[in-house]
Amino acid sequence: MRVLVTGTSGFVGTHLVRRLVADGHEVTGIDWQSPKRGVEGWRDVRVDIRDDAAVQRAVADARPEVVWHLAAQASVSVSMREPRLDIETNCIASVTLARAAAEAGARRFVFTSSGGAMFGDPPEIPARDDTPVAPRSIYGASKVAAERYLQIVGLETGMEIAGLRPGNIYGPYQDPHGEAGVVAIFTQRMLRGEPCTIFGTGNDTRDYVYVDDVVEAQVRAASAPVPAFCLVGTGRETSTREIFDLLARETGYERPAVEAPPRPGDIPRIALDTSRARDLWQWQATVSLADGMARTVAAFREEAEA
Ligand SMILES: NC(=O)c1ccc[n+]([C@@H]2O[C@H](COP(=O)([O-])OP(=O)(O)OC[C@H]3O[C@@H](n4cnc5c(N)ncnc54)[C@H](O)[C@@H]3O)[C@@H](O)[C@H]2O)c1
Repeated sequence: MRVLVTGTSGFVGTHLVRRLVADGHEVTGIDWQSPKRGVEGWRDVRVDIRDDAAVQRAVADARPEVVWHLAAQASVSVSMREPRLDIETNCIASVTLARAAAEAGARRFVFTSSGGAMFGDPPEIPARDDTPVAPRSIYGASKVAAERYLQIVGLETGMEIAGLRPGNIYGPYQDPHGEAGVVAIFTQRMLRGEPCTIFGTGNDTRDYVYVDDVVEAQVRAASAPVPAFCLVGTGRETSTREIFDLLARETGYERPAVEAPPRPGDIPRIALDTSRARDLWQWQATVSLADGMARTVAAFREEAEA
């Protein structure tokens, strides 16, 4: 197939491009940054997705049958400081891109939403796909709104709209310098012997899902007979403190965590029930937390030594 992926210089985008090229697809990738890792065999296009004309040109050139839209402002903290950037990138650009994709003849559009940020502090844990949404951050609200806007584009154009609602994705190539992605941040800092900060009590929980499992869900979201949005996680809650301890053991880190006040927009607890993904995509997470953490630390170690 001819396919288009956005966010191809990012963490999940890098893994998805590698998989799609290996599966034999003709891949065009859009990102405003250059890729940091060399994956061969695809067309890499530099576009700011907020630039309507540039998006329309790139999509018309690529003529994709399927689009995976991953480019985003992906940090809760940044969304609270810079709501305009978040809303322009995550909502407005998503609508422009989807309309351009439909115009170019795309059959299905797969959005990456956020199961971790859409429910706020849900009444039931694990949250289910039909749990009422109540985001607590601009980022979470943008993802919920984008899902809705995209459904409208689907109604308007007939293009199928599907999507993932992932928990906290982790694995090799995640950016350790940002404000999101605690596994990458801790791993890098522990390997360098630098201080690691836990914001809040450390008892807040997230549903950590390994990137290879997420890529498999991306592929299934595109090929399943019925287009749908599904939660993508493990169903398990893991606290930040547990992540710290696991990674400290894996890396041999002996310093205590630095404690800092909670950050605006962060939620107290979340885990995701993935029965819809199991029913519709025959998908479930296969990589255990211990195995995923070990693979992540090994990859960061290898990059540090390269
Ligand atoms: N990593 C997670 O834990 C997680 C969890 C749930 C959902 N998601 C979603 O998955 C997707 C991928 O996340 P990720 O972790 O790979 O994020 P990432 O930050 O590593 O990648 C995002 C990519 O989007 C690009 N981008 C941002 N603004 C752009 C713009 N204006 N024009 C063009 N490109 C732009 C960035 O350059 C980057 O390469 C995002 O939509 C994110 O919201 C991530």
